[in-house]
Amino acid sequence: MSQYVSDVELNSILPEILDAKKTLLKGDGKGNDFLGWINLPEELDTKIIENIKADVSRLAPKSKYFVVIGIGGSYLGARAVIEALQSEFATCMPSQFPTVIYAGHTLSEDYYHQLLQLLDKSDYSVAVISKSGTTTEPAVAFRIIKAHIESKYGRDEARSRIIAITDANRGALHDIAVQEQYSMYVIPDNVGGRFSVLTPVGLLPIAMAGYDIDALLEGARQMRRLCMENENYESNPALFYAAIRNILYRKGKKVEMLVNFLPNLKYISEWWKQLYGESEGKEGKGILPHSLSFTTDLHSMGQYVQQGERLMFETVMSVENPGSHVAIPSDDRNLDGINYLVSKSLTEINHNAELGTVIAHCNGGVPVLHVQLPKIDENVLGQLIYFFEFACGVSGYTLGVNPFDQPGVEAYKKNMFILLGKPGYEGKELV
Ligand code: PA5
Repeated sequence: MSQYVSDVELNSILPEILDAKKTLLKGDGKGNDFLGWINLPEELDTKIIENIKADVSRLAPKSKYFVVIGIGGSYLGARAVIEALQSEFATCMPSQFPTVIYAGHTLSEDYYHQLLQLLDKSDYSVAVISKSGTTTEPAVAFRIIKAHIESKYGRDEARSRIIAITDANRGALHDIAVQEQYSMYVIPDNVGGRFSVLTPVGLLPIAMAGYDIDALLEGARQMRRLCMENENYESNPALFYAAIRNILYRKGKKVEMLVNFLPNLKYISEWWKQLYGESEGKEGKGILPHSLSFTTDLHSMGQYVQQGERLMFETVMSVENPGSHVAIPSDDRNLDGINYLVSKSLTEINHNAELGTVIAHCNGGVPVLHVQLPKIDENVLGQLIYFFEFACGVSGYTLGVNPFDQPGVEAYKKNMFILLGKPGYEGKELV
């Protein structure tokens, strides 16, 4: 990175970065009614954690699948953590916890047809998650799944298998949940969807999949302390990341690629893309967040990254010790010529692929930044989530936008409602 960003540049942007941090913590900037996520790891009511654990004990033994219905911030955080922690082959493996599967994030008819075929044959429970309680995709999915679960188990048992996570007072989902007397969790008013993974939105599905939400929150608390207390790059990685992004953006690096070398981090990238895309992409500004899984994508996008337009930089999530070991067998005949790798672990080979890639990309005009992770567990993921969230707030304020709204998401919804003839949209113009 140092060949692309100098100490002089880092020092000269520091006052802006510290101002952005101050604005965030004082709560006097744009979008300041959505800052509840800053203190969540410290302030989340322990009663909520107890209730989540009780719901897991109640539903896990009788559910092969746990269907999480939600879109955007109402499902990406949970999916990111679960997929980072679980086996790549979780859906094919027996487990004492339900396999979490997803709905409400697509309008594909094939998807729902196939989902219902699976649910016909298996026991399941449901979390329906929507802050507004009015988003079309999860509402449609819940309508379909509610009818299915009621006809499968009868209305009373179905009710006990459904959990609603939504606003405390408003929205259609809130009203349904109250009338049907579903078990309910509240998404705090001051926490926006993409910052809600450390509320029941993320915590319930993560706990249902069998993961340790106390450790996740502890990791977030540790990172929160670093982010809140430190005003220098060395001890506050969020400030460093926010500074580098803004320096590179001002120098024409308009695309950031979040790169992993472990495919189970793919949904961390999906969550991150929403976090940064919705927070910064507005007013004609913002780095375009993109993601790649290496080495897989080196064989599809590697050419472009190495020699295409020089408009991007790369942030590599680098995992020191993924934890597993698979031996590469020796072969006397060595017909494939890879006996030279036998004494090395796959992790060592992957690390060398990473090092080779980073050197090549750096030399090819792509600045590379590292997010160093010792391993993948709940604590580390809690740290990572809080790091990206805090850096996003600081980076967005440094860019000069409101990082906590998403007015642009409404345009497609309005057009879809006009096209579908939703009552109240008659005669309105497409935007
Ligand atoms: O970050 C956001 O606010 C959005 O991505 C929302 O999470 C997404 O649009 C879903 O909204 P809701 O939870 O209201 O259904």
